[in-house]
Amino acid sequence: MNTGNKISKDEIIVNIIHELKTPITTIYLVSQTLRKIFDNIGEINYFDIIDEECSTMSNLLDRLIMLNKIEEPKIQFDNNINIHDILTVAVNSMKPTLKGKKGILTEYYRAEHFIVKGNGDLLISAFRNIIQNSIIYCNTVPEITITTYNENNDIVLLFSDNGIGIEEKYYDKVFDKYYKIPDKKHIDGTGLGLYYVNKNIRRLGGSVMINSCIGKGTTLKITLPICLTKI
Ligand SMILES: Nc1ncnc2c1ncn2[C@@H]1O[C@H](COP(=O)(O)OP(=O)(O)OP(=O)(O)O)[C@@H](O)[C@H]1O
Ligand SMILES: [Mg+2]
Repeated sequence: MNTGNKISKDEIIVNIIHELKTPITTIYLVSQTLRKIFDNIGEINYFDIIDEECSTMSNLLDRLIMLNKIEEPKIQFDNNINIHDILTVAVNSMKPTLKGKKGILTEYYRAEHFIVKGNGDLLISAFRNIIQNSIIYCNTVPEITITTYNENNDIVLLFSDNGIGIEEKYYDKVFDKYYKIPDKKHIDGTGLGLYYVNKNIRRLGGSVMINSCIGKGTTLKITLPICLTKI
């Protein structure tokens, strides 16, 4: 909170987070340009490494932004949000990472009612987290499908992948703060992604459910109440 001329610690932190995003984006863009000149030299594609690391740093900053927003009492949770637009923003921002893994993402936006009350930034962050998980927890070329449809007075969003899958005994646990399924291969995460996804979706009156098959893939089902009043 700003008291007089004093800038609060929170404001400084948020500012630094935003400022850090700019050099990461620049590094990513420079990497894209250099890739065109030097690609396919040597066995290791260093540009893929740069892109992935940029994406990791960017996601960590998103997490910090989200953390700050959750603790922020004045955050607006009642804006009219077009879920399909928000999904498009989230999908586009994950395309470089997906491209790095030669992944495929298919969208079936079938819902006819797609306006919800919520906060756009938090929803983008939530969707990015889910897509990022689908890319990370996959030992093959990622194939992701996002489907929307209406059910009663809700919009349903299905995020399906062909990743390593989640055992049923972990379905609830993965929503716990800092919980990571014991796994030697995918050790990078902080265990916060799905915790925030669940927290934010519930805050909007929605729910998140997991359905998975080990070795075949995972589907995350998000349900959100649609806004029935005219906007
Ligand atoms: N699509 C998925 N397929 C397989 N396992 C998954 C998937 N999504 C999440 N998981 C498992 O659930 C755990 C919790 O996921 P979550 O996104 O909360 O944390 P994280 O990915 O480990 O770290 P963070 O998202 O904070 O960087 C992961 O460690 C992973 O084991
Ligand atoms: Mg994650």
